[in-house]
Amino acid sequence: MARPSAHARLAGIERYRQQVLSHPLAQGISVDEVRGHLGKVPRKRFPRVAYASRDGVPCIQPRGGFPLFEAQRRLTRQLSEAGADFIPLTIDSYTRHNQYETAEQLLRRSEEEGKDYLNGYPLINHGYELTRELYRDLEKPVSLRHGTPDARLLVEIAIASGIAEIEGGGICYCLPYSEGFPLDRALLHWQYVDRVCAANSTEDAPIHRESFGPLTATLVPPAIAVAIQIIEALLAAEQGVTSFAVSFGQTGSVIQDIATARVLRELPRHFLSEFGFDNVHSYVVYHQWMGQFPPQPEKAAALIAGSSVIAGLISADKVVVKTVDEALGVPRAEINAEAVDVVKYVLRTLGCADAVTSPLVDREAALIESEVMSILSAIFEMPGNVFWESVFRAFRQGYLDVPFSPHADNANRLISIRDANGSIRVLDRGNVPLSDQDAQRERQLLGSRATGSEKTYRQLLADITVMV
Ligand code: 5AD
Repeated sequence: MARPSAHARLAGIERYRQQVLSHPLAQGISVDEVRGHLGKVPRKRFPRVAYASRDGVPCIQPRGGFPLFEAQRRLTRQLSEAGADFIPLTIDSYTRHNQYETAEQLLRRSEEEGKDYLNGYPLINHGYELTRELYRDLEKPVSLRHGTPDARLLVEIAIASGIAEIEGGGICYCLPYSEGFPLDRALLHWQYVDRVCAANSTEDAPIHRESFGPLTATLVPPAIAVAIQIIEALLAAEQGVTSFAVSFGQTGSVIQDIATARVLRELPRHFLSEFGFDNVHSYVVYHQWMGQFPPQPEKAAALIAGSSVIAGLISADKVVVKTVDEALGVPRAEINAEAVDVVKYVLRTLGCADAVTSPLVDREAALIESEVMSILSAIFEMPGNVFWESVFRAFRQGYLDVPFSPHADNANRLISIRDANGSIRVLDRGNVPLSDQDAQRERQLLGSRATGSEKTYRQLLADITVMV
């Protein structure tokens, strides 16, 4: 039986760190100097402090990354002036895949031609000294947004730059993005990341971690997303992380969003406490629609406004914002700043101090909670020496199964579609250990939508593009 352990051995990281920091692109980084720098960074740059000072309204976080330093500096200023509570640093895809030489070449070419050849900020090539300059006068947290299965070097450089929020995790940054990156390796690399975050934390200024709950953003049943969020919170806590946000993506159903948020607020706390991690603060982050976006700016704006209302209804700690450029590619800086301003406006005008309740929400939340409990109990009962090994096996056996994941270790046996209310339902549980009762309930809620295969296929396509 491999359950999360509060007594994992925390020794031995320093030698391993020296190995990672011996990379030529990590030149100049000193573990002690970085800790000293973090000690001087304003306290407001730490998410725990930012979250503690929010007054009932969700914090706003855009995404954003440009290859050139000056463009990133301008974007940072524009987003901050528009009212962003968290400042993003989105990393380019080559860096995410550890292809630093290609990132370097395309950075140089972008500089020479004044045109963007990268879809984000190549942090490792710019380095920590220059990147500290981006945030010289900033009194808000910076959030590292990427999608990197092996983020060891990236996170070392991010923290050295004074960045105190690290998004990602061994599951959530591997399964949706990679076919071939071995999941067990990703889990181990993220163990390193969590440990380094913990090593750079102090009690009042912890390096904060956030998981990426939307996963493939394609018909992921809430119970799967919630179970994975809890697992990633526990994996991080095992390594000493004390500040952690769980997250999920807008489902397409208001009822299901409210119910998911409720379960996501309660269950991670329950399990963190059960396994002895009472010192971990957890937060709930809501992602505006992560699926395919409408290309028309008017419709995109309507979708963004609608999901801002939901962010208020669910009392999210933070909302991650989309822009009307979403269907086109990387958003222009002004459009990004405008999105922050609009979301802020909706949160103010149509805000909601407490999470909304209704019997429908109660029923949905009870179903999600029961399903999550079944999945997690089955994983906690699996043989294995350490928790991450059970998690790895759970994927291999299809106990955890993320719809539309391209990953070789994902079973792809579970099939989900929407019911008449737009809620995501499990049509076929595959090997996911839902109880017979819950599986029956899912089918019952699908009603006449659970039909023959030809119709189901067409319905699936319609369900995926539901917002377009
Ligand atoms: N700037 C802003 N947003 C970005 N995204 C990806 N790269 C960037 C960037 N450089 C956004 C995409 C998508 C989400 C996963 O991240 O628009 O919505």
